[in-house]
Amino acid sequence: MIAANGALYQDLTKILVTREEIEQKVEELGRLITAEYQGRSPVLICVLKGATVFFADLARAIDLPITIDFMALSSYGSATKSSGVVRVIKDLDQDILDKDVIIVEDIVDSGVTLNYLKGMLMHRGAASIKIVTLLDKPARRRVKDLRVDFSCFNIPDEFVVGYGLDYDQKYRNLPDIGVLSPKVYEK
Ligand code: IMP
Ligand code: MG
Repeated sequence: MIAANGALYQDLTKILVTREEIEQKVEELGRLITAEYQGRSPVLICVLKGATVFFADLARAIDLPITIDFMALSSYGSATKSSGVVRVIKDLDQDILDKDVIIVEDIVDSGVTLNYLKGMLMHRGAASIKIVTLLDKPARRRVKDLRVDFSCFNIPDEFVVGYGLDYDQKYRNLPDIGVLSPKVYEK
């Protein structure tokens, strides 16, 4: 593990969620999903790339015969504000008709990305769709009626990185979640 005083950490103004807090929440969420989907075999969908680290931990906290799949969407570029335009970069490998689907996302911000994805999977005939997210920034929601079924941490309107979340594709490998210093993106 990278030490919390290492080089990457020098670009943070503060650590918002520690690796210990994340681990505890992921265990709790794994237990909830295991209880709720007893006797079923849901498909866990990872929204690339931000959700990968969370996804790998969450998948191992679920004691069910799940399958996994990956989807890449783009609404961002390298800016710190959403463009509102969603594109499918990589689609699922499997057919989700009549499947119980759990979408795993890193962060819900405006909600535009997830709203688009949920609509698309409903259209393909999923039996059920739930959304779980590591982080939620409720203050920035634009899609007001988007239902997030489980959020591990609500955070203030600040740009965060780590545990999968990036700025310009970097910082994903930080084990904790921190607020990125504005000096990094203002220069
Ligand atoms: P939405 O469509 O506005 O909800 O955008 C969600 C996506 O924006 C997330 O999946 C992230 O990839 C990205 N995003 C939003 N806020 C942050 C942040 O604070 N740090 C890093 N990525 C973010
Ligand atoms: Mg994302």
